[in-house]
Amino acid sequence: MCYAHGMRPSPSPFAGPMPVLSTDQLVLRAFVASDAVAVEAAVSDAAVAEQTLSIPHPYPPGAADDFIAATQREWSAGTVATWAVVQQDVGAVVGAVMLRFAWPHRRAEIGYWIARAAWGRGIATEAVRVVLEYGFDRLGLHRVEARRWVGNEASGRVLTKAGFRDEGVLRGALVRDGIARDVIISGRLRDDPR
Ligand SMILES: CC(C)(COP(=O)(O)OP(=O)(O)OC[C@H]1O[C@@H](n2cnc3c(N)ncnc32)[C@H](O)[C@@H]1OP(=O)(O)O)[C@@H](O)C(=O)NCCC(=O)NCCS
Repeated sequence: MCYAHGMRPSPSPFAGPMPVLSTDQLVLRAFVASDAVAVEAAVSDAAVAEQTLSIPHPYPPGAADDFIAATQREWSAGTVATWAVVQQDVGAVVGAVMLRFAWPHRRAEIGYWIARAAWGRGIATEAVRVVLEYGFDRLGLHRVEARRWVGNEASGRVLTKAGFRDEGVLRGALVRDGIARDVIISGRLRDDPR
């Protein structure tokens, strides 16, 4: 693989459809318009939205359609890859995992959410692991980082299980609902032990 054009992978995967990623219990695929109902049901939950930086609460009507359309544009532009997380046995969308790229640094920031009804079954950990594998092995990323609010213990466990190390606390770094909050930054390098 070579990294011309600002370190992006070449040939570009973004010219084609998003790759489908499979694990024991999950399929990760591109979002489609008909997923809007499942997205809205999951992220309307304050317990999901308030742990994220940008999902509004209450969740406005039509926001899920806009979110899905944005994921399609962002993949084609090569700026963000967002997978729908589907439980194989149920066939339902239960979450999302995204990589936001900083190509000049071969780095991405990972984000994710899982519908509350599906928490505690290892779904986030499995989804994050397969996305990391794709990012490191197929996209040539060097580093993936994550930011979470101080106190988001479940997300911290997911990241630890996926091989991330906490790197520090960014005091008052990100504003949500008008409040500047402390953020834990963590990272995993491609060459860290898997
Ligand atoms: C964080 C989130 C994605 C985890 O999803 P999940 O599918 O339940 O995650 P997993 O089952 O893979 O792992 C969760 C781990 O957190 C642990 N956990 C859950 N709640 C916890 C808590 N309050 N304190 C400590 N650990 C907790 C679980 O026990 C499990 O760890 P274990 O396997 O060692 O027992 C989900 O809770 C979520 O969507 N939260 C809201 C959105 C969010 O926080 N997104 C990330 C923003 S940085």
